[in-house]
Amino acid sequence: MPSKFSRRNAIRLLGLSAGATALPATLFGKNENSQTILLPENKGHQKIDKPITAIVCGAGSRGNVYGNYSIAFPDRLDIVGVAEPIAIRNERYAAKHTIPSENRFNTWEDVFKRPKFADAIIITTPDNLHYGPCMKALALGYDVLLEKPISPSEKECRDILGLAKKTGKIVAVCHVLRYAPYFVKLRELMQSGAIGEIISIQHLEPIEHVHMSHSYVRGNWHNSKQTTPIILAKSCHDLDILRWLVGRPCKSIHAFGDLNWFTKKMLPKEVQNDVSMVAM
Ligand SMILES: NC(=O)c1ccc[n+]([C@@H]2O[C@H](COP(=O)([O-])OP(=O)(O)OC[C@H]3O[C@@H](n4cnc5c(N)ncnc54)[C@H](O)[C@@H]3O)[C@@H](O)[C@H]2O)c1
Repeated sequence: MPSKFSRRNAIRLLGLSAGATALPATLFGKNENSQTILLPENKGHQKIDKPITAIVCGAGSRGNVYGNYSIAFPDRLDIVGVAEPIAIRNERYAAKHTIPSENRFNTWEDVFKRPKFADAIIITTPDNLHYGPCMKALALGYDVLLEKPISPSEKECRDILGLAKKTGKIVAVCHVLRYAPYFVKLRELMQSGAIGEIISIQHLEPIEHVHMSHSYVRGNWHNSKQTTPIILAKSCHDLDILRWLVGRPCKSIHAFGDLNWFTKKMLPKEVQNDVSMVAM
């Protein structure tokens, strides 16, 4: 193993990935709620003269995650517009980021009725509403931060790739694992040859019970026929990280699985008709 990879660094990185707190204070900052957050340590980061301005489409959970970055790092990102149909979310988001009323929209379509008024569009709408805003944003010359999965349809993914290439604009897909210090280091080691030839690799995404029941039973992805199935909604991260770590294209993918626990036949007698407790 190269000497650069000291035991201290290894522990630091492992600690970071585990969310440990016994680490040097210089690695951390505070967000707007005075919560401690990990400061990104990416060598690819460039100094910028002024913050990147962005419009957020979809002020839900993820829209707030990226919006919060602008509060922690106002010199890097400034949220100047929002599109969100749920009034209370729109209101709160606008107040949090001091967005003027003319830059608040009910739906993503409205954003693109205006000439371009920011550097980038952040797309954090539900899975089936990624393609529309992404294609419009590229056509108007915006760079895009696009939530995963790019789209549930291969054709739409290819359209986005085609238009990104044609316009030369950025479409950064939020495969966030690629930016986690643990995976960054792992890839560096693998690609430097530090652990020799890669013969086999295993990666596990253990979706714990709260996440499973919240997202895939009661939540946005409770019905795989109406929304993206779990292999795409969740495991697109896993497919992406394996490909990214190995650095070579894959030849084929096999997926299999079944529903066992959150099924109608497993419902307790007293809630036999409560289909909200069943995944489909
Ligand atoms: N990168 C990750 O690790 C990660 C994690 C969770 C979710 N996601 C992805 O992020 C996206 C958003 O997920 P979320 O958990 O924030 O969902 P969410 O439901 O909390 O937020 C989506 C928001 O989009 C709004 N919206 C609906 N229609 C709209 C329209 N026409 N115009 C503008 N806004 C509209 C909704 O009202 C909602 O507030 C999904 O595609 C999801 O798969 C990514």
